[in-house]
Formats: sequence, structure tokens, C-alpha cells
Amino acid sequence: MKQLQNKTVLITGGASGIGKILARLFLEKQATVIIWDINEINLNETVSKLSSIGKIVGHKVDISNVEQIQNAAKKVKQDYGSIDVLINNAGIIIGKYFNEHTTLDITKTMAINANAPMLITHEFLEGMITKNAGHICNIASSGGLISNPKMSVYAASKWSLIGWSDSLRLEMKKLKKDIYVTTIMPYYINTGMFDGVKSKLPILEPETAALTILKAIEKKKRMVTIPGYMYRLARIGQALFSVNFFDWFAGSFLGIYDTMEEFIGRKK
Ligand SMILES: NC(=O)c1ccc[n+]([C@@H]2O[C@H](COP(=O)([O-])OP(=O)(O)OC[C@H]3O[C@@H](n4cnc5c(N)ncnc54)[C@H](O)[C@@H]3O)[C@@H](O)[C@H]2O)c1
Repeated sequence: MKQLQNKTVLITGGASGIGKILARLFLEKQATVIIWDINEINLNETVSKLSSIGKIVGHKVDISNVEQIQNAAKKVKQDYGSIDVLINNAGIIIGKYFNEHTTLDITKTMAINANAPMLITHEFLEGMITKNAGHICNIASSGGLISNPKMSVYAASKWSLIGWSDSLRLEMKKLKKDIYVTTIMPYYINTGMFDGVKSKLPILEPETAALTILKAIEKKKRMVTIPGYMYRLARIGQALFSVNFFDWFAGSFLGIYDTMEEFIGRKK
């Protein structure tokens, strides 16, 4: 598909995991890629590695900081005018029981996973509305559909992201704008972010998950779980079953509520 050729794509958290693979996939489609990431070493490494494929730049941005978002957005607008595709991908997980979270753990998780996608979109949406073109893809999580121990704040941030993202889609439709919004809700992916997780359901491969995200954007899909059956499993299961039965089904039968027991996460 040629639709991404010469498009400008901004990916947050593009220096690792899914974001880094997406950066490569978009470059292979001949798009210009801008990545924002807090990790300067990984950022420089990613840009130098991928620049042989196409046009890529990296900006060091801490998206939990509103001022840094505004300054970085200003630079992108000065350099490129507006962007065509925004992928709100950066995210963090603390992976502890709620009572073990510090105040900073809570505020950081919400700032990065929930607030930043809104604030970043807010910076670029006006430009998309003026052009009447654009695509916003928000990487949420299945943790935004199914509650899970050791994930409470992460779940809160992703439930928030899903609610905002899909409401934004409806707003663009109501305003009759050709601006598409795709909400992605993956199950665990083997990127390192969730190292230590044990799961009866298969853990996804990063390349496969990233390809599904790319296809979802190309096909202007709206709500996408990876794997696909997760959406119905969560929404229909929660609608039809009692809480007791759903807890047994998700917790004991599928083992989801024990997946985080040996969570280690990404080593610093
Ligand atoms: N890995 C999984 O199992 C999984 C499952 C479902 C959803 N997700 C979501 O997919 C997205 C990507 O996950 P991943 O597995 O590739 O993670 P990852 O840890 O490999 O990459 C996340 C990137 O975000 C960056 N980042 C973190 N805080 C930042 C900040 N304050 N400012 C800018 N950048 C920041 C990190 O430096 C890193 O490069 C996340 O939103 C995550 O919640 C992941």
C-alpha cells in the first residue's frame, strides 16, 4: 500500500519494543519518522540503526512533563508543519500491589499512559483538522478491558486511554472529519516490559503485534485487541457472566489473575 509514502509519523516511546519496530515498519513504507523517547541512549542507537532505511529523527522528550511536550511539539510543527500519523505508544508499568505504589508511581503512570496521549494529540489535532486528514493510534492494553492484580494503576491508565481514544473517534465522526482514531489493546507482548509474567494464553511476539498495529492503521480500524478474540472475551464475558463466574473464568480457568505474580519488568 502506498498510502503511507511521504507521510510524517510521530511515535512516542519509539526507542524500544513495539515503538521501535513500528518506526522500522513505517520507514519501510517510505514514511518520515519522528520518535520521541526519554531514553537518550536507546534513542540515538535507534536513529543511527534505522537511518539506513529512511528519514528518521529522534527527540529526547519526557512525556510526563507538559512543558517538554509543548516544546517538542513546537519543534515538530516548525520542522514539518503538521504530522499525518500520531502513535501514542510510550507506556510504563510499576507491577506492584496498589498499596506498594509510591505517590510518584501513581502520578507518573497516569501522566505517561493516560494524560500524555491526550496532551500530545491536543498539540497536533488542530493541524489535522485544518488539513482534514490524519490518523491517531493509541496503544492501550488488554489491561484496559480486564482487571488484574498488580496492575491496578496501569489498568486505570489504560481504561482511561481507551475511553478517551474511542470518544475522540466518535467526535471526529460527528464533526465529519477525515481523521481516524485506532485504539489498540494487546495482550502481553514479549518486549521486556512485562518480563517475568507467566501466562496460559500465548504471549505475543513483538514483530507480529507491530505488524497487526500497522495493518490496523492502514485499514483504519477502530478498536483492535491482539489477539482479536480478547475484545469479545472481555466485553461479552463481563456482560453475560456474574462477577463471580467471570472471576473464575478469567482468574482460574485462563489464569489471568496470576500472570503478574512473578513480574520483574524491564531491568533498568
Ligand atoms: N509489552 C507488553 O506486554 C504490552 C502489552 C499491552 C500493551 N503494551 C503497551 O504497548 C506500549 C509499548 O510497550 P513496549 O512493550 O514496547 O514497552 P517498552 O518498555 O519496550 O517501550 C516503551 C518506551 O517508552 C519510553 N518511555 C517511557 N517513559 C517515557 C516518558 N516519560 N517519555 C518518553 N518516553 C518514555 C521508554 O523509554 C521505552 O523506549 C506501551 O504503552 C505498553 O503499555 C505493552
